[in-house]
Order: sequence, then structure tokens, then C-alpha cells
Amino acid sequence: GKELTDVSNLVEEIVGSEVSIRGRVHKNRLVGTKLFVILRESGFTVQCVVEETRVGANMIKFVKQLSRESVVELIGVVSHPKKPLTGTTQQVEIHVRKMYCLSRSLPNLPLVVEDAARSESDIEKSGKDGKQAARVLQDTRLNNRVLDIRTPANQAIFRIQCQVQIAFREFLLSKGFLEIHTPKLIAGSSEGGSAVFRLDYKGQPACLAQSPQLHKQMAICGDMRRVFEVGPVFRAEDSFTHRHLCEFVGLDVEMEIRMHYSEIMDLVGELFPFIFTKIEERCPKELESVRKQYPFQSLKFLPQTLRLTFAEGIQMLKEAGEEVDPLGDLNTESERKLGQLVLEKYKTEFYMLHRYPSAVRPFYTMPYENDSNYSNSFDVFIRGEEIMSGAQRIHDPELLEKRARECGIDVKTISTYIDAFRYGAPPHGGFGVGLERVVMLLCALNNIRKTSLFPRDSQRLTP
Ligand code: 4AD
Repeated sequence: GKELTDVSNLVEEIVGSEVSIRGRVHKNRLVGTKLFVILRESGFTVQCVVEETRVGANMIKFVKQLSRESVVELIGVVSHPKKPLTGTTQQVEIHVRKMYCLSRSLPNLPLVVEDAARSESDIEKSGKDGKQAARVLQDTRLNNRVLDIRTPANQAIFRIQCQVQIAFREFLLSKGFLEIHTPKLIAGSSEGGSAVFRLDYKGQPACLAQSPQLHKQMAICGDMRRVFEVGPVFRAEDSFTHRHLCEFVGLDVEMEIRMHYSEIMDLVGELFPFIFTKIEERCPKELESVRKQYPFQSLKFLPQTLRLTFAEGIQMLKEAGEEVDPLGDLNTESERKLGQLVLEKYKTEFYMLHRYPSAVRPFYTMPYENDSNYSNSFDVFIRGEEIMSGAQRIHDPELLEKRARECGIDVKTISTYIDAFRYGAPPHGGFGVGLERVVMLLCALNNIRKTSLFPRDSQRLTP
């Protein structure tokens, strides 16, 4: 029949016109002979009034027994409400003429979308009139993710995530990068270490790629010059933390270096302010939806990205009375603390730390030419948490093999990678970013599971 109008498009300007809309029964309330149905579509809600005098007693009976979350279509007239509406996103109401049910929901919901959409302050306020609304626990949300992602905040989070990817891609394409896809089934672990999923590849031992590291470098050896990839990354993390997943989306870059490895940091310094600005421009409604449930302040960042050396960072922490190992790695707590100190001193929540100690970086990282205790490497932080690591890579096959052995890697499993450098390789480097982390920190969310559609962690493989 008639073309469907999106609920988000039901506004003042079209009062008086007849529309067809589709959505879910968010909730239902009977007042006298009138039935008020809140219809929800992708996080937008509108009040629909079903009156017995207009539709007859049978229709009222039919609508009354529709369970929450059932998918319905209706035809009605866009109207001014008698009183201003507070419980819906749309400020007009629909006077219903006809209503059909396309798909019924089971009546007993394991998670009520209205409850899942409550903010902490809504829950507190609810306590004031005697009855405290229950908090929906994270496991309940994740076990029933299909219901959970129907909330306005979740709808918005995944729109923002999509735009981060688009902006990342847009920026790199404009700088002459080529988008590639590397294999996820590989013969040896790509980052070293134990956090790797091992599997049987038709009788041969294999791994799920912990990053596109080896193959993006091999693409550079294949003269592709500047490449990037957006794809899944697998880590067999044992720890159950707020920021580790066993599968996440990696945004990876690899490029030739012309003069100095700082060219990579220059690119990062431009890329992220570009992404942040695009999100502010393209997602104002989405940011507002997230804020309604999870209030947060916009990220503070400088147009010229701040760059500190690891040694400077250590110095700042020492001056603030923190005990830190100058040749070790920063733990989560020290990273947070340094984030605070940087914010106070430089007024930014986005910055880079470079020239890390060699001992805490992967085998393929280029040592610093003036002091091999350090390396040409960097990490990038948002609100005191790591979102990226990057570096110049070793392009000399002998040194690469030596470093791999020193790091306890079975070089047989990565021999084709090392061999790729034996036919000549230009100086190069790159970085890897975790998409879920970026979105989590951009919106100051407290858990990475909120920004993964169907999260995989050390305890979860379903839904
Ligand atoms: O620091 P990582 O392990 O670096 C690499 O994978 C390198 N190959 C990158 C490079 O090009 N040199 O991972 C890169 C980023 C981290 O900064 C973090 O944002 C994210 O990936 N990440 C994770 N995100 C979610 N869950 C996990 N378990 C993650 N591990 C890393």
C-alpha cells in the first residue's frame, strides 16, 4: 500500500497528513475508552492514540492484547497532542485509523527495552516516589543483546561506530592509501605472546590472526606503498577487563617512510582530529542519544596533536610521586594517571607518547638509532586509555630474524614473512587501532562490551 514514513520524520510540519508507519509496541496504556500506544522505531518513539469511537470495539480489543515488542504497521493522521509530550522523542501524535500486526513478540520479555534505556539518574529519580526502577545488569543485556540493542543509546552507538570507520577510510583514501584485506588464518602468531587462538588447518597447526601486522608489511614489500585495512582481529585474552575483547575490529595502517618515522605520527596527528570533527558534525543526534543514557563531556583535543616522549611521560609521573620503571611498560593505572596530568598541563585528552623502551614492544619494532634500549614506536591515548600502538618496523631480514629469536618466537612459523624482506624492502611503519576502544572512549563509556555489537570475551561466545 502506502509508502512508510520513518518515525523520526513525524514532525510539526506534517500535522494533518495521513501516514503509514511501522514500529514496535513500546508500551500500551488504556485511559477510559482510549488506548495510548507508544510505537518505537530504531530508538525513535511516537504516541499513537486508538479511540473506540474511531476504530470500533474489536480494534481496541485487538490492540490491547498486542504484546510489547510486537512489530506493527498502522495508518493514522499526524496531529497536535492535547498536552506537550514528555515520554516520546516525537512531539506529534498519531490518531490511528487502522493497525495490523506483522510479527508478535513472546509476552514474557527477558529484558524490557524501556528498562534497558534508563539512565543512572532516571533510576535514582524513580527511587524518590517510593518504587526504585531496577538496573538491567550487563549480563542480562548481553544475553539478550537483540533486545538490548533496540535502545536509543545503543542504536546511536553503532551509528557513531559506522561513522568512525567511514571517516577513517575517507581520510586515508584522500591521502593515497589503498584498502586491502589480509588473511585471518595464518601459520604463526603475528604479535608473538600467548594470546593466540590455535587451530587445526587441515592437519597443519595454524592461528587466527592477532593483527594484520605480518601481511600488511608484506604488502609494502610488494610495492603497495601505503595500505590500510578494516577487519577482525583475534586475541585469546585470559583476563576479563573493561577493555579487552577476544575479537575486535582493527583499523590498521602501513606505509613507506620517506625521511623519518615521525611521518607516521604526523599522519596520526591529523587523522584523529579529522575523525573527531566528522563525528561532531555528522552525529549530533546520536551523540545526544548516547548522552541521555550515559552523560559525558565532549572530548578535549588540540588541533595540533600533542606528542610527548615516553621519558617525558615517566618524568611527569615521577614528579607526581608515582613509582614507575623507566624501561618497563605503563600499567593501566599509570596510563590513567598520566592522562590526568597531561589534561591539567596541556588541556587535551588526546595525545601521543613515543620512543618506548624496546623491551616492551613486539619483535618487529625498529630500535632507536641512538639508543637500542628504546625504539621508534608510539602509543596514542584517549582519556588516559590506549587506543593505538604503532612503530617503524625492522626491514633488514637478518635483524628481524635475530629479534624474533630473542623474543622466543619459532621463526619457522613466520619464515615466509621474514623471507619477504630478502628481495629488498623500503623503510616503513604503521599502526593499529581498536575500533571498539575508540568509540568507547569517545563517548566515555565504561565498558568495551557496550561498543561491540555481539561481544566476544574470555567468558562469552554467544549470542
Ligand atoms: O597494541 P596492539 O596489540 O598492536 C598491534 O596489533 C600492532 N600490530 C599495531 C601496529 O601496527 N604496530 O593492538 C592495537 C590496538 C590497541 O591499541 C587497542 O586499541 C586494540 O588494538 N586492542 C584491543 N581492543 C580490544 N580488545 C583487545 N583485546 C585488544 N587488544 C588490542
